[in-house]
Amino acid sequence: MRRLLLAGNWKMNGLPADGAALARGLAQRLIDAPAVDIAVFPPFLSIPGVVAALKGTSIVVGGQDLHPAASGAHTGNTSGEMLKAAGCGSVLVGHSERRSDEGEAGEFLAQKTRAGLRAGLQVIFCCGETLEERDANRTLSVVRGQLADGLSGLTPTELERIVIAYEPVWAIGTGKVASPQQAQDVHAAIRSWVGQTWDAGTARAMRILYGGSVKPGNAAGILSQPDIDGALVGGASLDAASFDGIVRAQAQEA
Ligand code: 13P
Repeated sequence: MRRLLLAGNWKMNGLPADGAALARGLAQRLIDAPAVDIAVFPPFLSIPGVVAALKGTSIVVGGQDLHPAASGAHTGNTSGEMLKAAGCGSVLVGHSERRSDEGEAGEFLAQKTRAGLRAGLQVIFCCGETLEERDANRTLSVVRGQLADGLSGLTPTELERIVIAYEPVWAIGTGKVASPQQAQDVHAAIRSWVGQTWDAGTARAMRILYGGSVKPGNAAGILSQPDIDGALVGGASLDAASFDGIVRAQAQEA
């Protein structure tokens, strides 16, 4: 009942022309993609070219960040409403690189989540522990705390437009992928937390993505886990062939 979502987070990579070329490559390769949801998150300045290149496809374009306000005196920021008007359907909130680079946390991220929903976007809310926290057996308490900070107070209807992405910080960009079982254990705990915080139906419907060094060669093992509903891919989403390989890896598994 949960449709897989394969999402590519391009981070701060590629000039606008590179983004448009990558999007054209994806549109060509994914023309006969299996029945999954696919989304890409280009840098802000690449969004218009990527939206144009993906017109007529079902690939969703999203923003990597947004400001809580709809407009106003917030130099350098971009609102959800602006993303929506540019053709975006989704936005990332709480990525570990924004938590560490920009010091984002807590109530500020809850405001961003609500801003994404207000603008009519899907929100992919990211969480994940550092290696130090994992080694101290704090993984589940850290992840639950991040989710409680970012999502509590939302109604079950609002949660229909939320996707959770579990991205262990130690696996991001390191080539160290969580084992399928390590990831599954955390995903199952997140789903059970959603069930306790809201209700069983909301927990069953919630899509939970894994992120951290997902590649064509390790995707099938991760995506075959019962509580893993897709992947948020960084480095391997910057190449059309490797992102296509990840999308098709799950198809072999399904
Ligand atoms: P990598 O796939 O490069 O490890 O990045 C994961 C990530 O942070 C996606 O948001």
